[in-house]
Amino acid sequence: MPKLDQRVAIITGASAGLGRSFAQVLAREGAKAVLVARRAEALEALVAEIEGEGGQAIAVQADLTEADAAEHVLDAATEAFGTPDILINNAGMADAGFATKLSLDTINKVIDLDFRAPFLLSRGLADRLIAREMPGWIVNLSSIGSRYYAPKSASALYCSCKAGLIRMTETLAIEWAEYGINVNAIAPGLFESEMTEGFIARKGDRVREGFPRKRFGQPSDLASTLLYLVDPASRCVTGTCIIVDDAQTPR
Ligand SMILES: NC(=O)c1ccc[n+]([C@@H]2O[C@H](COP(=O)([O-])OP(=O)(O)OC[C@H]3O[C@@H](n4cnc5c(N)ncnc54)[C@H](OP(=O)(O)O)[C@@H]3O)[C@@H](O)[C@H]2O)c1
Repeated sequence: MPKLDQRVAIITGASAGLGRSFAQVLAREGAKAVLVARRAEALEALVAEIEGEGGQAIAVQADLTEADAAEHVLDAATEAFGTPDILINNAGMADAGFATKLSLDTINKVIDLDFRAPFLLSRGLADRLIAREMPGWIVNLSSIGSRYYAPKSASALYCSCKAGLIRMTETLAIEWAEYGINVNAIAPGLFESEMTEGFIARKGDRVREGFPRKRFGQPSDLASTLLYLVDPASRCVTGTCIIVDDAQTPR
């Protein structure tokens, strides 16, 4: 019996990067995967890939910067597979600019996607789980930038949201502990993805040489941490954030 048989997992930002890899991993373990992002074609291609491997998945196109997107996603997931019990809040964007240079539109988008959307999705899911007396597992994608900030990083807003996401993880874990809902976070270092490809193309060689292991993380390197956090055997692990950065950053 696959480990996540009968489980329904929502993965935001599943059209690319880490989210695509998370969706593959969860589907391979037997979860019914609900793939969320704006690019419908990329999601449909992943649905076909998962189905080709014998798994189950649906694509839900949504722009998570919109306030009503969370309910749309939760309704679509429930209609297709029943009440979801795993939520991977992975979709995110960087601000890619110094604070004084950011437009109000960019500031709002970053906060709406990186902070508000995980909150709206998490509380919408918890509301449904509590009503049905079901346990649940929420994993938030934070970042090592939540605690480590190098000069010229030009991502103060992004890092602030990612730090806030850890506090959200801690507080919601306490609030929902009595309902059997576990809330945890992963803080990755630098991993190869669409988000980082421009940076790696510009500065990759120098940055890689500065890392003790002279390498970047690959999305699949996060799979074991993800599976650990959605495993019922980890039932006492809640309100925590696991750093997975291959010792790229100081402590
Ligand atoms: N890669 C790293 O080194 C790294 C390090 C630390 C933390 N993280 C975090 O890990 C998560 C995944 O990062 P990644 O590197 O995989 O990023 P990525 O390659 O840029 O992928 C981002 C995903 O989010 C989706 N997305 C973006 N805007 C969206 C919106 N408005 N509504 C819905 N979906 C949206 C994108 O799909 P569409 O464009 O199709 O909407 C895409 O699937 C992020 O939260 C990121 O902050 C990444």
